[in-house]
Amino acid sequence: MEQVEVDLIWHNGELVAWEDAKVHVLTHGLHYGTGVFDSMRAYATTHGTAIFRNRDHLARLFKSAELYYMPIPFSLEQLRAATHELLAANQLHECYIRPIVFRGYGQMGLYPLDCPVEVSIAAWPWGAYLGEEGARHGIRAKVSSWRRIPHDSLIPHAKASGQYLNSVLAKVEASKAGYQEAILLDSRGFVCEGSGENVYAVSEGRILTPPQTASILDGINRKSLIQIARDRGYEVIERDLARAELYLADEVFLSGTAAELVPVREIDDHVIGAGEPGPITGELQRVFDDALHGRDPRYRDWLDLVEVPADRTDAVAGVLADPTAGVAEVPADRTAGVAEVPADRTAGVAGPAVR
Ligand SMILES: Cc1ncc(COP(=O)(O)O)c(C=O)c1O
Repeated sequence: MEQVEVDLIWHNGELVAWEDAKVHVLTHGLHYGTGVFDSMRAYATTHGTAIFRNRDHLARLFKSAELYYMPIPFSLEQLRAATHELLAANQLHECYIRPIVFRGYGQMGLYPLDCPVEVSIAAWPWGAYLGEEGARHGIRAKVSSWRRIPHDSLIPHAKASGQYLNSVLAKVEASKAGYQEAILLDSRGFVCEGSGENVYAVSEGRILTPPQTASILDGINRKSLIQIARDRGYEVIERDLARAELYLADEVFLSGTAAELVPVREIDDHVIGAGEPGPITGELQRVFDDALHGRDPRYRDWLDLVEVPADRTDAVAGVLADPTAGVAEVPADRTAGVAEVPADRTAGVAGPAVR
């Protein structure tokens, strides 16, 4: 699958052309993985374009950065404003958003604290990470031979770039074996999570999910789903799960920003339940989708509304009119591309221009 590109990326306080958002080959983070990132999604909701739990994602980004000794040279509110500015300038009504904080070019060697801390935010239309078919009918997963990084070697609670080599190994292994996703066990052999998602088992009407001590990333969607499930009267239990408890569960599903809520229909060739998304998974998926799209007033506070002009010409003109927006560096000819951009980027999710 090719990377979908849009016009502008926010880099260290300025909007720059997508193709100019570059770093030096001696960037510290490139060599030693000294970066932290997060991921959000914006949806075209009943209230307008909204980023789901934007402040919560940014708060996690700041915590991840602090854990790896990276002072972010912007405030959380500045980065939040930057996400809004980026979506407006690219006229993105529905998209994936990727902020990254990393140690830049400065001095090689393992001591990173003399290297500058850089911040970028990119956004682009990105459909269902594990496929529309997977979201509807469930995916096939494989328990990885790779164990999730233990909490006394790295910091699973931080979303750090270098740590994702662990997920990459698991994902490639599962994919080469013909499965859509990997499920990793923790260093003790208990169930941990997917390569980029938290995992849940439904057993006798209760929802079980691994605890913080099982090396999980504390997913924002995990928090949301636990709240939704409890609001609907389900018992949610955070406890260690043995591998076979997944095979024996009535239903299994995953959650994450990229994947959203995805049912799992098979693990290691064992059919889960009836081999199709179960009733509790379906119910949570519906309510979660309502929450993401602003259709459920109980979860309205999770939406961070963004003013995205309907017409791209307005978007560029509006940002250029604001001297503090920092788009002066954008080459004048970027506006020449206006005519080629679909009138509505929402439509672009299905078939966006791929460069
Ligand atoms: C390793 C890992 N676990 C869990 C998650 C789910 O987190 P969230 O729901 O905040 O996207 C992600 C995705 O960000 C992830 O990369």
